Amino acid sequence: MDERRGRLTRDGIRIHEPEDFEGMRRAGRVVAEILDRIGAHVVPGRTTGEIDRTITAMVEEAGAVSATVGYKGYRHASCISVNHVVCHGIPGDKALKEGDILNIDVTVIVDGWYGDSSRMYVAGRPSRKAERLMQVTHDALMRGIEAARPGATFGDIGAAIQAHVEAHRMSVVRDFCGHGLGRVFHAPPNVLHYGRPGTGPRLEEGMFFTIEPMVNLGRPETKVLADDWTAVTRDKSLSAQYEHSVGITATGCEVFTLSPAGRFHPTWT
Ligand code: MF3
Ligand code: CO
Ligand code: CO
Repeated sequence: MDERRGRLTRDGIRIHEPEDFEGMRRAGRVVAEILDRIGAHVVPGRTTGEIDRTITAMVEEAGAVSATVGYKGYRHASCISVNHVVCHGIPGDKALKEGDILNIDVTVIVDGWYGDSSRMYVAGRPSRKAERLMQVTHDALMRGIEAARPGATFGDIGAAIQAHVEAHRMSVVRDFCGHGLGRVFHAPPNVLHYGRPGTGPRLEEGMFFTIEPMVNLGRPETKVLADDWTAVTRDKSLSAQYEHSVGITATGCEVFTLSPAGRFHPTWT
């Protein structure tokens, strides 16, 4: 495995070779299938720790490796972020309640390639406001993906996401961003989910990165709890997130983490 294949832009962003797309497709498919299958386990009464153990078994069964176990001291195969948790929720022994909304974020390594994706799930049925939040967050991710093509800038992606979210009077979280990935988990650039069109590095064929907007019903500010991982909304408002891993092609972008079952959104019907 040659870590130096391809080249870096002057912003330090790796340009991958055409054959590298196949590695990302396989990693992306594994994580997408796990996220498809985990939906049946998201029910009131189930704990997030139980859901995480099921994910651990699914990762193993797929012959993949969890990218998060052992990452900076993290010990789980998923992050599960319930209600006002923005991201990096640690699976534990708290049982889900009817109407809870949760993001499940899974990253796997397949033959050295990283697949990183997350979706929203509901224990039972969502409230109207929770459903609206999840819809706006999903659509904002898709606006960002539509803006991702050679010649566009990372600012174009952020601006597309921010415009959609703010048009619905919700807020984009500033404290966390998407990231380059490939044969590493987190690489340049920081993919901001807000910004101005035409700013930031220019997208080129062969760039691999995530887009993973977090959207709050209330204010955008977050804080990290004493466990040093769990990020929550400061105002306790509900938060949602969707994440895809993508690669820039000659004409647009390829989404590596599409749901084979067509269940990326909604997951709960
Ligand atoms: N999957 C997350 C991301 O989208 C990162 C989780 S790191 C962990 O970048 F250690 F919290 F799992
Ligand atoms: Co990510
Ligand atoms: Co992720």
